[in-house]
Amino acid sequence: LKKVYIFSEVSEKHLKEILIHCKEKRVTKGEIIVSENELGDSMYLILEGEVKVSLMSEEGKEIILSTLRKGDCFGEMSLLDGEPRSANVIALTDTELLELSRESFLNEIVSNKHIAGAILKVLSMRLREANERILGLMSKDVFDRLAEYFQKEASVKGRELIDGSVVFERLPQSEIASIVGSSRETVTRAIKEMVDKGMIIASGKQIILKKNFQNLLIKRHKE
Ligand code: CMP
Repeated sequence: LKKVYIFSEVSEKHLKEILIHCKEKRVTKGEIIVSENELGDSMYLILEGEVKVSLMSEEGKEIILSTLRKGDCFGEMSLLDGEPRSANVIALTDTELLELSRESFLNEIVSNKHIAGAILKVLSMRLREANERILGLMSKDVFDRLAEYFQKEASVKGRELIDGSVVFERLPQSEIASIVGSSRETVTRAIKEMVDKGMIIASGKQIILKKNFQNLLIKRHKE
C-alpha cells in the first residue's frame, strides 16, 4: 500500500486501518472498471497492471485521456464533486486493484492531512498534464506528438539496452492513435517515417527507441 502515491506519507499503523476498509478486485484485460456518466460510489488504487482513461467522441471514436499504472488511483473525481463518472476506465492488462468506498475515502480525506494533500497534488498533476496535452494538440503535428508519447513510454516503462537504446512494450496502433489524437492510418505513416529515419525499430510487440532519437527529431525539425 506504501507504493500507492496518495498513501506514501501515511504511517504503517494508519495504513493497516485503511486496509480494513478496502476490497481487493481483480479485472482482466479489456474489462470496463468505471463507466462514463454512471454514479460513482467508490475509488480505486492500482496495485498491479495498467488502465486507460477514455471518452467517446460524438462520432464514436475513442479518445484516450491518460493511462494509469501501479501506484496511481482513479475514480476519486465523482466522489469529490458528486457528479457522475467523468470518463471510462478500462483495463489495458490484467489488473489488481483495491477498492475504497465513498464513505471511507471521504473520511480519510477529512481526517488525514497527508492523504488530502496527496489528492490535491494528484489533481494538480493531472491538470498540468491536461494543459500540456492541449498545448501539444494545438501546436504539434502527429509526428511530434507520437515522438513525445514514445519518449514518455520509454522513460516510464522502458528497459535500456547495451547500445543505449530503450525497449518498451507497445500498444496496438489503434490505441496509440487514440492516445496521440489521430487516426490509425496517420500513426502507421508516422511510425514508418520514424523507422525509415532510423529513429526507432518497430516490431509487433515492442518499440526500440534508438539512442540518437532526440538528435534525429531535432534534425527533422530543421529539414
Ligand atoms: P471519476 O470521474 O470518478 O471516474 C473516471 C476517473 O478517471 C476520474 O474519476 C479520474 O480518476 C480519472 N480521470 C478523468 N480524467 C482524467 C485525466 N485527464 N487524467 C487522468 N485521469 C483522469
